[in-house]
Amino acid sequence: MDFQQVFGKPPETQASAPGRVNLLGEHTDYNDGFVLPTAIPQGTTVQLGFSSDSQHHFYSENLNEQVSILDINHTPSGFASYIFGCIEVLQKAGYTIPPLCVYVKSSVPMGSGLSSSAALEVATLRALRQLLNLPINDLEIAQFAQQAEIQYAGVQCGIMDQMASSLADTEHILFLDTRTLERRVMPLPEKAEILVIDSGVPRTLASSGYNQRRAECEEAARSLGVKALRDITDVNVIKALAEPLQRRARHVVTENNRVLEVLQGVTSERFGELMNASHVSLRDDYEVSVPALDTLVEIIQKTEGVFGARLTGAGFGGASVALVRSGQSKGIATHVLEQYNQAGYNGQILVPSLGLSDAA
Ligand code: GLA
Repeated sequence: MDFQQVFGKPPETQASAPGRVNLLGEHTDYNDGFVLPTAIPQGTTVQLGFSSDSQHHFYSENLNEQVSILDINHTPSGFASYIFGCIEVLQKAGYTIPPLCVYVKSSVPMGSGLSSSAALEVATLRALRQLLNLPINDLEIAQFAQQAEIQYAGVQCGIMDQMASSLADTEHILFLDTRTLERRVMPLPEKAEILVIDSGVPRTLASSGYNQRRAECEEAARSLGVKALRDITDVNVIKALAEPLQRRARHVVTENNRVLEVLQGVTSERFGELMNASHVSLRDDYEVSVPALDTLVEIIQKTEGVFGARLTGAGFGGASVALVRSGQSKGIATHVLEQYNQAGYNGQILVPSLGLSDAA
């Protein structure tokens, strides 16, 4: 079913936005810290047209599901909540959005920690900007998208995913200071490429666990008398905190320091070591890993040609990211998946994305 078949007329406009993978700087963005994401080749496309009645109609090709908004005081669930959220935050900012027909298709894997939701939000806002000639820039698109996620999808997220989807490309890493929104585009480390493998374990309890971690960080910052954990650079300072706040804060402080080290310029080998250290910190101090991800990451780290690996995204399941020698990612993935799947899991390679010829 395409737009024409669903809505009986062609779309007026369309826009796309990519998913992202975060290389380093996990769970730091809502602590005003530093992140290093990059865009992935998979993306989401949103097509728009004007609705011929007074309601919004949303259709997801992937889910083969149509949602009509009958009552704008009632937030829909699932994919429709993100689109509805984007429309609502624009309305609250003073823009008038007419009733719309919205058609969504996406190649961003869902539930793997690659920001399918940010891609949907940014693509929706880009399409709305085009259709209605809205005077909003790419930074504002990321900010509106984050507001949509917080207010309408119920995740108290930071701004990394939406900034990456709105501003990053697949050839560079985006360094972002999430407090000042200062950013720098950096090349990938030398002679290296990115490999993303899904653990096959979907993220469960992600939003409740995520919101809980965020609350713990805010409590730690309050106890230490700082605005956010970003303001602590010396790990000795956090020894005053009770557990588990001390471990949560230690993750954030050490993770920020790892990103700042990369910013100074590091070799691929060092970048990999920092990723490995990040995984240990996410597993032991932040406690957002699961056994499947630990197994997967360990197998990847032991494989020849790998500089380093860690879980990526919020955790609680989802994907791993690795930095590997240029040209070796597919060979490494085959080797890793053989061992990982023998252990009873169902992993799969997500980046580089397998084209049709590869899958044949
Ligand atoms: C999710 C959130 C981001 C960020 C990551 C963890 O992807 O949406 O804002 O906090 O988790 O680094």
